[in-house]
Amino acid sequence: MVNDCIWRRFSNRFIISTIITRRKFWIISCTGELVLLQYEMLWPFALLLRWAAQSIFLLTILECCAILNTSNMNEKVLVLGVRGMLGTDLGEVFSQAGEVIGLDREEVDVTNGIQLQQVVLGIRPSIIINATGYTDVDGAEGAREAAFILNDTAVGYMVEAAQSVGARLVHISTEYVFSGEKSDGYQEDVPTLPRNVYGESKAAGEKHIVAYDRGYLVRTSWLYGKAPQRGKPRGMNFVDAILAKARDGEALRIVNDQFGKLTSTHDLARAIQGIVHGAYVPGIYHLVNEGVASWYEVACEIVRLANIEVNVQPISSTEYPTRAVRPKHGVLLNTKVPLLRPWQQALLEYLGNA
Ligand SMILES: NC(=O)c1ccc[n+]([C@@H]2O[C@H](COP(=O)([O-])OP(=O)(O)OC[C@H]3O[C@@H](n4cnc5c(N)ncnc54)[C@H](OP(=O)(O)O)[C@@H]3O)[C@@H](O)[C@H]2O)c1
Repeated sequence: MVNDCIWRRFSNRFIISTIITRRKFWIISCTGELVLLQYEMLWPFALLLRWAAQSIFLLTILECCAILNTSNMNEKVLVLGVRGMLGTDLGEVFSQAGEVIGLDREEVDVTNGIQLQQVVLGIRPSIIINATGYTDVDGAEGAREAAFILNDTAVGYMVEAAQSVGARLVHISTEYVFSGEKSDGYQEDVPTLPRNVYGESKAAGEKHIVAYDRGYLVRTSWLYGKAPQRGKPRGMNFVDAILAKARDGEALRIVNDQFGKLTSTHDLARAIQGIVHGAYVPGIYHLVNEGVASWYEVACEIVRLANIEVNVQPISSTEYPTRAVRPKHGVLLNTKVPLLRPWQQALLEYLGNA
């Protein structure tokens, strides 16, 4: 990743200065032929030119070294909740770029502020990514306290721990912090207005991050990934659940009046990496695969891509009552960073590997 960036940034300078210092100009003509010019013919400018090229070459090398020294190669990234659905991909993606330490409940209970602080002081990470969360949306309706302890109080502990070592802190939130009544979607700066306990607890947690000057608040939606949500067998994310039912020949009745952006945890992890390793300032980011669809439309696409003949029937939310109210249009708009690829492309890749 770093090497790619450096190559993109410096390749022109490297190539040109190398060619000149090798005392030749290679020019590619329109017809694609290579024309060789001896630049000694241009004397006395040639000597000056070669001297300048050598200086540029050396400076470029020094600049690359400086970047590598301060880059993510030396960054220690701590992923909390590393065995969860998103955490698994974060661990994999970040380990390709440098040092990553992944912990989960077995190693540290993030709701225990003292324990968390000790762990962070021991590791002294430069980046902490919080992929923990109370994610049982319907369960939260009957477990308000538990949801708030993990999604709100623990986030406060994380900010304190990050502060103590000067680390940047990335926290994951959700479209559930919005009511979903705005049919044209939600930009990053729209005030939150949750409609269920899970959303309330996540909105409360967001406040700690926004108040932290090194805090990155990443909202996302409708996640699926190769790792199961913890404690649940593979098949519990929406995509795998639809696949399993379709393969069993079960008729599918799927809600067609809730809209959102289906997002791959792999793509999200890559996008988070792009933010923390790019020159992005702390703030609120919406990272989602692009394209709005209803759950019904997503289900139709899953069975189409998987080539399964099955009847998919659209139904309304009232025909599929849930304990927690869901946003009708939980559509997150990304106005700050490069857009992620369309959800259909990410899904196709996921199904190819399924
Ligand atoms: N899933 C979605 O569709 C979605 C959408 C938008 C945003 N998000 C947000 O994205 C984040 C990751 O979601 P996910 O679906 O990947 O979650 P997940 O699969 O449930 O993973 C959460 C991880 O955190 C761990 N954890 C829970 N309590 C902990 C504690 N007290 N101390 C340490 N670790 C603890 C869990 O361990 P246990 O299994 O032992 O509890 C689990 O490994 C969450 O903040 C969620 O709110 C998710």
